[in-house]
Amino acid sequence: MSQPALKPIILIDYHPPSGDIRQEVLEGLALPQKRLSPKWFYDEEGSRLFDQITRLPEYYPTRTELGILHTHIGEMAELIGSRAAIVEFGAGSSVKIRILLDNLNEPAAFIPVDISGEHLLDAARQLAMDYPNLEILPVCADFTQAFDLPVPAETANRNLVFFPGSTIGNFSLEQARQLLKVMAIEAGAGGGLLIGVDLKKDSATLESAYNDAAGVTAEFNLNLLARLNRELDADFDLNSFAHRAVYNEDKGRIEMHLVSEKNQSVNIAGQQIDFAAGEHILTECSHKYELQEFAELAAEAGFTMRKVWTDPEKMFSVQYLELA
Ligand code: AVI
Repeated sequence: MSQPALKPIILIDYHPPSGDIRQEVLEGLALPQKRLSPKWFYDEEGSRLFDQITRLPEYYPTRTELGILHTHIGEMAELIGSRAAIVEFGAGSSVKIRILLDNLNEPAAFIPVDISGEHLLDAARQLAMDYPNLEILPVCADFTQAFDLPVPAETANRNLVFFPGSTIGNFSLEQARQLLKVMAIEAGAGGGLLIGVDLKKDSATLESAYNDAAGVTAEFNLNLLARLNRELDADFDLNSFAHRAVYNEDKGRIEMHLVSEKNQSVNIAGQQIDFAAGEHILTECSHKYELQEFAELAAEAGFTMRKVWTDPEKMFSVQYLELA
């Protein structure tokens, strides 16, 4: 028997600028504290390495969040209610969205939002094969700025913004505040937010999660330099930079660095950048929160905490918040 034809997936494309890597890299490396944005981690090789990180024994966030989702999805579905339009910020792991789709009561639509249209369409097409009755409305946009949501064919009872993975931790406090405000706009009156937030804990556990024994996180961090060699015709010697991840207790965040092991000069896109021995490039911050701290930050955007689920060791949290 022939299969019913799949509905075509139509991308709503706001054509977000993806940023000029050359200009941003040169600006970041001209700062007194040299910086490279973590957004440049995720080329094909970086995405493959990140996927490997999520399965490392020391990297607890992914498996702990999945455990929390599996254990409490019934209660989450009850709080979210029927006919919610799910708006996922970042077309992330399809495993997590599938847990939601398999358990929510008649979701009205799924609206994944991502800056990469290609990645988004691939993920949406894949999902459409397994959920043929679900309306999928992918939106290509920079979700750090408010954007217009498509209106699903079936009226939704509420919008639910879904932001798993503790990606919120990779934003500075000021950026996280702004992002929560955008989420409040997209959720709209009576809307909800289901978000994964990594929690503060002892520095040994945190530092080992970002300094794994197999060296995958080091490879992930150094791949940033390999990418600049490939894309900006740079000549970083990957053997003379070292990965370092330390927990900054005052700022409540893991800071990842690439440390120059000697005095050296590097050419990038025709410009010479000098490094002193021991000088480091800050490549990523991963903020960890106390439950109360996050509740206060989200309250500034108008969200009220309805329920927090954690694992027994209180390593990670999944939180459901609502707007009045
Ligand atoms: C994507 N993000 C939540 C990860 C984190 O834990 O901050 C990125 C990562 N960097 C090194 N390991 C994982």
